[in-house]
Amino acid sequence: MKIIELHVENFKRLKAVTIRPGENNVVEISGRNAQGKSSAIDAIWAALQGSAALRSTPAPVRKGAEKAEIRLDLGKYVVTRNWTATGNTYLTVTTGGEYKAKLNSPQKLLDNLVGDLCFDPLAFTRLGDKEQADMVLSLLKLDLGDLDRRREDAYEERKAVNRDISRAKAELDGLPRTDTDIPEEPVDVSALLREHEAAIKETQRLNGVIAKAETLRKQLAEAEEQLRRAQERVDRFKVDLDAAETETEKVVYPDVEAVKRRIDAAGETNRKVEAARKRRDLEGRVAALMEQAERLTQSIYATFQAKRDAVAAARMPVAGLSFDLETGRLTLNGVPLKQASRSEQLRVAVVMAMAQHPELRVMRIEDASILDAESMAMLKGLAADNDYQLWMEVVDESGEVGIYIEDGEVWASNLPGAPDSGLLPTPPVAPPVTEEELL
Ligand SMILES: Nc1ncnc2c1ncn2[C@@H]1O[C@H](COP(=O)(O)OP(=O)(O)O)[C@@H](O)[C@H]1O
Ligand SMILES: [Mg+2]
Repeated sequence: MKIIELHVENFKRLKAVTIRPGENNVVEISGRNAQGKSSAIDAIWAALQGSAALRSTPAPVRKGAEKAEIRLDLGKYVVTRNWTATGNTYLTVTTGGEYKAKLNSPQKLLDNLVGDLCFDPLAFTRLGDKEQADMVLSLLKLDLGDLDRRREDAYEERKAVNRDISRAKAELDGLPRTDTDIPEEPVDVSALLREHEAAIKETQRLNGVIAKAETLRKQLAEAEEQLRRAQERVDRFKVDLDAAETETEKVVYPDVEAVKRRIDAAGETNRKVEAARKRRDLEGRVAALMEQAERLTQSIYATFQAKRDAVAAARMPVAGLSFDLETGRLTLNGVPLKQASRSEQLRVAVVMAMAQHPELRVMRIEDASILDAESMAMLKGLAADNDYQLWMEVVDESGEVGIYIEDGEVWASNLPGAPDSGLLPTPPVAPPVTEEELL
């Protein structure tokens, strides 16, 4: 849908103007300063957007006139907006063609026809880096939020794990080094105590044996005196004494003191065994945490990779336009978009506006006079290739460029092949018929 006819009466600087672009993709409005060029283009957006477009226009009705009217024929719809001198405004949208039906919620209908950027594509170049990138991503229907959140989670978790590693390492450093000759298991002290008790018992028993031998020796002495009387007893005692002496010779005392010393040493040994165990545990924990941190690093890298793949797979609306994952900014041919030339930025802005695919394919280029020939040619090419109607204002006093406006009226129409503009009387318009009346 494009503008077939713009008719304006008494809006701002304009008296009465009718413009019919015909098949032209570019509608240049030319003229001297303050003759009504901006008023003509403003009229399009005033008709479409109403008060939203008129924030800086508190007096839309031309001084001295009773009322203003803008009629925009879009083919499928005809938009009519009126203002009274006291500031009241009224909008009607009817279907185009032969049978005109008045439509409900006209402003809502218009809002859905017009793209945000078409009103002013340069608004795109004025957006911040982040907003520009968001707009491109939303046009591409790319939602990187989920990947960003996953990366953020892994990052936070790794931070916590790294803190645990530092704490465990600090504790490990505080522990004494372990001796190399420490046994694996602690010494069994109760077994040693049992061994100690048995050794004492054995000592007592052997003491008894020795005492017994002594007694026998004395008894022998006595018996020898009574040898003759007790020869038989003496012999028996001798045998017994022999046996006892044999055992006496074999006596080996257990080293009671040595066992005692081992008991004393066991405490110290066991403290070292405990310290060594704690060290082994902490070393194991540090190794496990470092492994976990490595896994999280891998996961962070994987989300970055997935993001890069998603962006690489998306089809950018502008050749050379790309999304820099590191900075979250747009780049044009590898350079931040904000640093591209004015004409390059203008091209991106216009292509972005077109990529929004609004139903009404009309766009306004402000300050077209300051564009160089190359930028202008680029704009015209884009308009032709994408079947857009570009309305632009140029300061040109020759009267030979586009629609030439003088003193609020069209003085010359230079649009090739277009029907005459502004020079014809406005055809009478039948009053709108409501939907009810049609039925
Ligand atoms: N409501 C109005 N009634 C009469 N003149 C107006 C009104 N609004 C603006 N103007 C005049 O219109 C001129 C600007 O019109 P504009 O369309 O911006 O001109 P151009 O774009 O050709 O330079 C100014 O001289 C301004 O005083
Ligand atoms: Mg102007």
